[in-house]
Amino acid sequence: MNDKINFRKAFFGDFNKLKIIMNNEEIFERKKYGYNFDRAFLIYKILSLFPFFTKILLRKEVLFLIIEKDGEVLGGLRCLILWNKKITNFGYVAIKKENRGQELGTMLLHSTFDYLKKKDIKRVRLTTNIKNEKAIHFYLKNGFIVVGRQYIAPPTIKNNNKKFKSFNNFIQKVIFRDSSIYISDNEFSKLRINNRLGNIQKFEPLSIMKKHL
Ligand SMILES: CC(C)(COP(=O)(O)OP(=O)(O)OC[C@H]1O[C@@H](n2cnc3c(N)ncnc32)[C@H](O)[C@@H]1OP(=O)(O)O)[C@@H](O)C(=O)NCCC(=O)NCCS
Repeated sequence: MNDKINFRKAFFGDFNKLKIIMNNEEIFERKKYGYNFDRAFLIYKILSLFPFFTKILLRKEVLFLIIEKDGEVLGGLRCLILWNKKITNFGYVAIKKENRGQELGTMLLHSTFDYLKKKDIKRVRLTTNIKNEKAIHFYLKNGFIVVGRQYIAPPTIKNNNKKFKSFNNFIQKVIFRDSSIYISDNEFSKLRINNRLGNIQKFEPLSIMKKHL
């Protein structure tokens, strides 16, 4: 469509530009509950220097892919490839504010799918905030389906959970504090999600999901 648009792996030198694009409240609503974006990003930046270590010892590949136009980085995403399961988690999906709505996000997603297919990765999943309607629309339009709803305990609650008298009471509080939807790419097989209550996460069936959308 446009030969000046380029898709490629991010190098260490791209990280500072990516950080500015990816550090936004739409993605990190959780920041207000203590999510430390700077620390998380710093870890990714360091890991990018040791891909071999990450792959062999952690059984993961951490990959940042970017889209650029005329040499300017305009967006990117993080792929966390879990080698034992052949699943990829997308995260930090973002396009520079001034360039949104120009199909760059769509191009970034599809170029990433092509790239992953070559690596024989069969599933893609991600979570997004239930309030981020634009992003949900964007994912559904690009072939994703909603597979569940996930409740995440903000760290502050997680650390003080002895305070809560009953588990139900606890879940109620979590639900209203922070929730996100779980999405999978329907081109690949549907994702089975285990209910990992140990991690204070709760998933609802798809029928209930639709109500929330
Ligand atoms: C979501 C995002 C990556 C989409 O990238 P994009 O390049 O704007 O998307 P495209 O142009 O390919 O697709 C446009 C579609 O996405 C939707 N969209 C999402 N956010 C949008 C925005 N801020 N501006 C315009 N369109 C947006 C539109 O509804 C549009 O659908 P339509 O054509 O049916 O109207 C981008 O808008 C973004 O960076 N948003 C902020 C970060 C974010 O919320 N990331 C997702 C976290 S999981």
